[in-house]
Amino acid sequence: MAKTAVYPGSFDPVTLGHLDLIQRAAGLFDHVVVGVLVNSEKKSPLFSLEDRVIMLRDVCRGIPGVTVESFEGLLVDFVRSKGDAVIIRGLRELMDFDMELQMAQVNRIASRITRSENDGTETVSEIETLFLPTDPKFSHVSSSVVREYARYQVPLRDFVPENVLRVMIEKGIVH
Ligand code: PNS
Repeated sequence: MAKTAVYPGSFDPVTLGHLDLIQRAAGLFDHVVVGVLVNSEKKSPLFSLEDRVIMLRDVCRGIPGVTVESFEGLLVDFVRSKGDAVIIRGLRELMDFDMELQMAQVNRIASRITRSENDGTETVSEIETLFLPTDPKFSHVSSSVVREYARYQVPLRDFVPENVLRVMIEKGIVH
């Protein structure tokens, strides 16, 4: 079993659901690397990369074995740079499953290709994805709901950690 898990995402912003998953993963692995995607082509983020990383580091402080890094490019390359690591993703509901399954399968295939191309060897080493079910109390929580609710000033106390709420108030996103 790999000792390192990479938990990738956009984290725009980190939610209580993300935090729950990070804490549970930290109980399963020696090291959890939270990987923050630098920029997703399809989204214009609410928070800059720097802010997303700062907020994550703040909420992860005190959770043993957890570090936060940003990454650019292919997830499998980032995971490979961490040695023998697996990817973890949360599943909130059935709707997540189709996309997550496809992503896991694509990443597994991509990891085979990148390994043999980069190494010049025939060694096949596949990167696996493990799914953790979201705690039901967070199954309705997502960053996109947070961003949408923020536009309408819906209270976000049950959606994001306190420090994120504080930053949102400081930036005038919510009041
Ligand atoms: O929090 P998100 O936006 O659901 O996370 C999506 C993420 C960052 C895991 C995914 O977009 C990703 O891995 N992007 C990096 C590019 C990549 O490797 N794409 C292939 C996987 S389909």
